[in-house]
Amino acid sequence: MLPQAFGSSKVKLIFTLHKNGDFVIQNTRFILDISLALPQIRDMPKISEKAQHMPASPIRKLVPFADAAKKRGVKIHHLNIGQPDIETPASMLNAIKNANIKVLEYSNSAGIESYRKKLADYYQSHQIHVSAEDILITTGGSEALLFAFNTCFNAGDEVIIPEPFYANYNGFAVSANVVVKPVISSIESGFALPPISEFEKLITPKTKGILICNPGNPTGYLYSRAELEALKELVLKHDLFLLADEVYREFCYDGKAYTSVMHLEGLNNHVVLLDSISKRYSACGARIGAFISKNKEVNAAALKFAQARLSPPTYEQIGAEAALDTPPSYFKQVKEEYTERRNLLVSELNKIKGVYCPMPGGAFYCIAKLPVKDTDDFCEWLLKEFQYQGATTMMAPASGFYATPGKGKNEVRLAYVLKKEDLLQAVICLKEALRVYPHTQYE
Ligand SMILES: Cc1ncc(COP(=O)(O)O)c(C=O)c1O
Repeated sequence: MLPQAFGSSKVKLIFTLHKNGDFVIQNTRFILDISLALPQIRDMPKISEKAQHMPASPIRKLVPFADAAKKRGVKIHHLNIGQPDIETPASMLNAIKNANIKVLEYSNSAGIESYRKKLADYYQSHQIHVSAEDILITTGGSEALLFAFNTCFNAGDEVIIPEPFYANYNGFAVSANVVVKPVISSIESGFALPPISEFEKLITPKTKGILICNPGNPTGYLYSRAELEALKELVLKHDLFLLADEVYREFCYDGKAYTSVMHLEGLNNHVVLLDSISKRYSACGARIGAFISKNKEVNAAALKFAQARLSPPTYEQIGAEAALDTPPSYFKQVKEEYTERRNLLVSELNKIKGVYCPMPGGAFYCIAKLPVKDTDDFCEWLLKEFQYQGATTMMAPASGFYATPGKGKNEVRLAYVLKKEDLLQAVICLKEALRVYPHTQYE
């Protein structure tokens, strides 16, 4: 009689089926189901809870749908990601090409000294008074942020971040076991810094710092000096770290003054500045950033994290050093281009029925409110089911930039990193999409 468990994991029957139909059993193997006998043993080790909690990028999650749309021949207007189309300065690329390196050695863990010295001069030119000793070169601004979280915070500490915020802050917080406490800035106020009383409400014995992004990604908001001075008082009152991500420093528009946290008096021991060349020189692939603090204890501790990962990339530091000679005319031109793109995008968006987009003061992003209930669904639908004259628009649903559940569901983030003609086409597509999307709902 054939065993009842034939084909299951309990009994394995090995047989030969001959052409004449003979069925010859060669072996019967009993397989012990260990998971039943010993429930605590699995067939592979379990990944960490931290890894399970690590969020996937909300900006990249729609990529498979975009790839599928491209395969169907649909052109995608990429407004979803901050990858500028501006050319990287030739001086930077040439320095990398011409570097005469025979052995590609590790560099100093803190970064190549000549680069740090020249970088300090760059900061001085922005009235940020730091020296080479205050600077650690990192593998992108991302690593600088990770170092800051690990250097300043203990597991379980809380960091207050105005939301919406750069989504990867969540990932850095999970990596360092730090709890993010969002303080809501609203589209109605153009994402201005929330009142200090809102920060105060969130302060607990576990609050260890505040993280801001100025100019902001995803909002494009540029903090005023008065807002930063208010934050300074709060930081001093509660003895907190003030981490400031200023990777978009070069992109401030309308002649508005840019204030760095390093411009604030009396905060030397509290401030950590996180920086990057990714956007400044349109060099996202170089992976060069910086961690800057006047607090010697903070810097010495961060250096230990830097030593553990040995060194930042060598060729790219050479390129970054050369990029420091980029003439002001480059930035003037780039800024003019972004200003025109911003003006075009924001004014065209606001012409669409039911759409509202406040004018950003910096960076190259804006957040727009759409007449839909769920932009995650809408953005997916745009890629899966919609096209207008052979094209569609890809945007980042804004919910991924909020930590408060349910927030930003009717908002999207758009990056104006495309040429004006393409931006215009992208908005035309969006307008048409909102006209035919089955769930468009006007208030
Ligand atoms: C606000 C902000 N901070 C940090 C980063 C990370 O930059 P990097 O490419 O230097 O790691 C980005 C990248 O988009 C960003 O937008």
